[in-house]
Amino acid sequence: TGGRVPGSLLRLSDFEPAALKRAVELAREMKRDPGGWLHSLRGAALGCIFEKPSTRTRVSLATAAHRLGMHSMVISRDDMQLVHGETWADTAQVLSSYLDAITLRTYEHTTVEQLAGRSSVPVVNALSDDHHPCQALADLLTLTEHFGTLAGLTVAFVGDGLSNTCNSFLEACASTGMHLTVATPPGHEPAASLLAEARATMAATGGSVTVTADPAEAVRTAQAVYAEVWVPMHKRHERAERAQRFAVYRVDRELLDRAAPGAVVLHCLPAVRGEEITSDVLDGPRSLVWRQAANRLPTAQAVLHTLVTAAQS
Ligand code: CP
Repeated sequence: TGGRVPGSLLRLSDFEPAALKRAVELAREMKRDPGGWLHSLRGAALGCIFEKPSTRTRVSLATAAHRLGMHSMVISRDDMQLVHGETWADTAQVLSSYLDAITLRTYEHTTVEQLAGRSSVPVVNALSDDHHPCQALADLLTLTEHFGTLAGLTVAFVGDGLSNTCNSFLEACASTGMHLTVATPPGHEPAASLLAEARATMAATGGSVTVTADPAEAVRTAQAVYAEVWVPMHKRHERAERAQRFAVYRVDRELLDRAAPGAVVLHCLPAVRGEEITSDVLDGPRSLVWRQAANRLPTAQAVLHTLVTAAQS
């Protein structure tokens, strides 16, 4: 009990810790009984807007909607009047008179805020440059399945501390009381405001966050190591420079051997094999990556069910 369900999910911390825990538990139930919710949102409609490519998010959301009895439609930004100057706010007002929920993958986080600000139905951030809450939910389900209890778990994130994946994983660690060390090059530390918010939450949940430039130090006691692409979608022009800057932030067998015995590996995918993660680690016995990708489906199902049901009640 407790823990308000947010009207929309723009960042993971929109879920209070108790509501987040319930959403992950619901995802576990939905994974155990995928057909058990086929009629729960029958007749409802979901619009999935994409401004960037997507494999996991696009297909998991559409399948999740199907498993709830919802009709879903994938909409490219380029097929809407946005290209002729209609605003996100006007688009939101119109779309929310047809749909029961809207998901948006976009660039600037303010775009998803604009959409949610004028939408009368729940909006789910399907990735912005700053946050990736749907991914963080799958990360939490994967760690819960493997470890049972998350509070007190020691984890490391190796890669770009400014990335949407890191930001959302930081919020996931804060809400669940994990001890996170982020290994990232100087200048890529998570924003001070995000660290301060996470630490305020951690004061209640018992977690902690540390930032270092040294990947070996970050993984020293880690029970899970999160690898992350060096070049996000909106930074392709920085590819060569980033390949140099991040070269020591590769999760390979040597780095993993420095982690706690039995440490597992996460990666949100898509991976650049041989760059931020080696194939032997990605495909190896300590990789939870493929399960993590599969967990996008029950967590998408749980989020849609939680938000749409709350909005309709
Ligand atoms: N991890 C993730 O969001 O994958 P896609 O970009 O394929 O959706």
